[in-house]
This record gives sequence, structure tokens and C-alpha cells, in this order.
Amino acid sequence: MSFENILIETRGEGERKTGLITLNRPKQLNALNDALMDELGAALKAYDADAGIGCIVITGSEKAFAAGADITAMAKFDFNDTYGGDFITRNWETIRSIRKPVIGAVAGFALGGGCELAMMCDFIIAADTAKFGQPEIKLGIIPGAGGTQRLPRAVGKAKAMDMVLTSRTIDAAEAERAGLVSRVVPFAELMTVTLAAAQTINELSGPSVMMAKESVNRSFEGTLADGIMFERRMFHSLFATADQKEGMDAFLNKRKPAFKQR
Ligand code: CAA
Repeated sequence: MSFENILIETRGEGERKTGLITLNRPKQLNALNDALMDELGAALKAYDADAGIGCIVITGSEKAFAAGADITAMAKFDFNDTYGGDFITRNWETIRSIRKPVIGAVAGFALGGGCELAMMCDFIIAADTAKFGQPEIKLGIIPGAGGTQRLPRAVGKAKAMDMVLTSRTIDAAEAERAGLVSRVVPFAELMTVTLAAAQTINELSGPSVMMAKESVNRSFEGTLADGIMFERRMFHSLFATADQKEGMDAFLNKRKPAFKQR
């Protein structure tokens, strides 16, 4: 596959590697237009289908993870283009169907759709330079790629309302305190730390990793009772895998597990 708005490369050692996707529209601070989001969706699907990939990382540049949906493109849209064209749903939501873990590695601006794309990742590792915000209200619109739903779930209603209604941007330290990001590291270490986290995941049992992701996602999408039931069934079913036998035998025999991915 060849892409014009993203860069893709495979990183890591071992049987399962990391699919690294770099958003690459530097002149527009990685503003997310349809062409980029189509390419991102295609790359995510290809990595998800590749048995040699265990984990996917999405990152941007030092200055911007992404400064939002592309305002130049949106400025021309009318209701027929957005509703009729299924704007956002049509391609941005591809990421929701990805079953392998997706880590967001964020430096610089993650604004509007950039913040929303980061929140669509399974977790975010932020550089100390990262800035998160939902400034759509200043454009006469609202966050439209899940920001009004995922932000309150991540940071609580008060901070989400503050950010969405006033367009206040928060820095990496505040984002970590609020629970939006899992860790903050110096910018120079962002990719080393993120790729190490991905490598850790690559070396685990794929079926248990996918079921863990599905189960945690249930906690955002349903009731507690349904989520617990879903988790319990996933947990039960993992006892049918060879990797459960291997993982537990390795622990008891004080050796490193050799997972077979089944
Ligand atoms: N769309 C299109 N172009 C963008 C852009 C965006 N979201 N963000 C930045 N750019 C462009 C700028 O127009 C500029 O282009 P030119 O050089 O051709 O003038 C270039 O990127 C560099 O940007 P700035 O000169 O503005 O850089 P700066 O360092 O002075 O400011 C910034 C950086 C604060 C991020 C500023 O660019 C900015 O406020 N960007 C817009 C942020 C925004 O409103 N995002 C929300 C978009 S709406 C959305 O995302 C909807 C949704 O929920 C799906």
C-alpha cells in the first residue's frame, strides 16, 4: 500500500511486531481530512489483519499529533455533505472495529478531532509537550468525533464541560492528573517508551490481549452487570486456549512463556 498523508513502518523484534502509523500533513499540523482518514482506516485494517503484528501505534509530529479535523475542507460543507456523506462515521470510526491494541503517542497539539482521535486509541502516552483541547465551539460547531462522549468518561463532567464550552486547552500534566493519558514522558523519550509498551503487548498471548481490550471497552459501552458478565465469559473462554496452559505452566516452572497465539 502507498499513502500520501500517513507514513507506515513496522517496528520491533520477535514474531509479532508493532505497526507504527505516523500522521503526515506537517504543513497543516496534521489536520485530519477525508483522504488522511481513509488512509488511516486502511492502514489500521491491514495491520489488524496481519498475524505478524501484535499492536499498533498512532503518532504525529513534534509540533502536532493533529490540530483537528480539516477546517479548510469543512468550511465548504453543508448539511447534505455532513449528514448525506456520513461525515466522521464513514471513515473515522474504522478505528472502533480494530481488535488489536492501538496506542496513541501524542506530542504537541491534540485539538478537536485530534484530541478525539487520541481518545479513540486504547490508551494515550503523552509527551510533556502535549496539549489537549476541544476548541470546536469557537468555530460555531461542537466536537463531532466522539469528544462530547469520551472526554467526560475520561476526565469527568466538570472538566469536560469546561474544555468543550470554553475551549480551554489542558497540558500533559493536567491531562495525566485528570486520567486522559496513562503516562507523561519527556518528548525525547516518547517513541522509545511507547514502542516498549507495544513490544510488551506483542510478546503476550494475542487472544487474551484482544479479550482484555474488548472487556475494558465494555465498561464504557454498557451497564456494569452486562460488563461483568461479558468479562466473566471472556475469562472462562481463555481456559480453552493453549496460551493459558503455557502461561500458567511457565509461571509455575519459573520460565519465560512461549506463547503460540492460540
Ligand atoms: N484545519 C486546517 N488547517 C489547519 C488546522 C485545521 N484544524 N489547524 C492548523 N491548520 C493550518 C493553519 O491554517 C496553517 O496553515 P497556513 O500555514 O496555510 O496558514 C498551518 O496549519 C499552521 O497553523 P498555524 O499558523 O495556526 O500555527 P500556530 O502554531 O500559530 O497555531 C494552533 C497552532 C493553535 C493549533 C492553530 O493552528 C489552531 O488553532 N488550529 C485549529 C484548531 C481547531 O480549531 N481544531 C478543531 C477543528 S474542528 C474539529 O476537529 C471537528 C471535529 O470535532 C471532528
